[in-house]
Amino acid sequence: MLSESTVPRAVLVFASISVFILLLYGASDSPRVHSSSSGYPFNIFPSRLGGSDSKIPINGGGDYNKLEKVLKEAAMEDKTVIIATLNEAWAAPNTVIDLFLESFRIGQGTRRLLDHLVIVALDEKAYRRCMELHTHCFALVTQGLDFHDEAYFMTHFYLEMMWRRIDFLRSLLEMGYNFVFTDADIMWFRDPFPRFFLDADFQIACDHFSGNSSDMRNRPNGGFNYVKSNKRSIEFYKFWYSSREIYPGYHDQDVLNFIKFDPFIEDLGLKMRFLDTAFFGGLCEPSKDLNLVCTMHANCCYGLDSKLHDLRIMLQDWKTFLSLPPTLIRSLSVSWRVPQNCSLNYVHQHDSPEKSVQQTLGH
Ligand SMILES: *[C@@H]1O[C@H](CO)[C@@H](O)[C@H](O)[C@H]1NC(C)=O
Ligand SMILES: *[C@@H]1O[C@H](CO)[C@@H](O)[C@H](O)[C@H]1NC(C)=O
Repeated sequence: MLSESTVPRAVLVFASISVFILLLYGASDSPRVHSSSSGYPFNIFPSRLGGSDSKIPINGGGDYNKLEKVLKEAAMEDKTVIIATLNEAWAAPNTVIDLFLESFRIGQGTRRLLDHLVIVALDEKAYRRCMELHTHCFALVTQGLDFHDEAYFMTHFYLEMMWRRIDFLRSLLEMGYNFVFTDADIMWFRDPFPRFFLDADFQIACDHFSGNSSDMRNRPNGGFNYVKSNKRSIEFYKFWYSSREIYPGYHDQDVLNFIKFDPFIEDLGLKMRFLDTAFFGGLCEPSKDLNLVCTMHANCCYGLDSKLHDLRIMLQDWKTFLSLPPTLIRSLSVSWRVPQNCSLNYVHQHDSPEKSVQQTLGH
């Protein structure tokens, strides 16, 4: 029997410390932007997006066939694809995209999932980097938007991109594809499919999980969800997208938190489930047991440097875990050394939409 002192101390954090971390950070609010429409210049720009019933202008409308081709090549037998979006800041060498793809390569049962991953590039640089790294790339370019402009414009751009994503995902559902949407700052350590609910239409990861996957009071995180293509999910995505007009200036995740209680969703018969952070964790609420973790999200994090710092430690922890003797893995509760640079900063700075945008775009 190995004594505790032979365990790499850096990686093994005992339950009490994990609990402490949870208590310390569990109280923090949703990490996504809480932007209010008042006093913020979202509305001075006319919307460049069509309504949810308009055909999405993918690359100006000409590349619908290209999308169909990429999806067909990447899809699993049951027409499921994994979708990640990528912007210039996260596509730069040695940044988020490299760590994301590395996690698939070293995860358990995740390498084969790369064949089903479609990276949706939001700008030209991201597209070019994707083509260097990966097989299935698609450019979703919003015409006339130059996000090198001033900060307020970047905020507008960012918010619009978030909503564009919802509209894009709705179009995938309409094309008959089921998808797992994942932010690229989510590490895939184990195949998540065995942990999904079989009968849910829409299932989503959480910043904080209440312990009950049916409880609408869970705090969902829009960065990871699994959606089955059917009438209910298509109508739900249309409803979600159109609700941005009722809550102008709000992020898609905030709007989801408003509409999840709407009787319309019950009328639709949409089965919504919230995923347990034990399997789908993040820096807000880490997966406590590395024997169970499927994905870990660098949420609750301010600043690209902090995010990269903690993601690298997360990957290192995972590698150390994989190298431990099986007896040790079973006999000890193994946990993470993160959050470190994330979270603490975040708690103090998360309420500024400008900063959230800079965080997302990596400035
Ligand atoms: C979980 O939440 C649902 C919806 O709020 C509720 O109906 C159910 O009783 C809860 N289950 C448990 C075990 O508390
Ligand atoms: C992480 O935090 C440490 C301690 O506060 C600091 O010295 C270091 O510069 C930070 N690193 C990054 C990449 O933010």
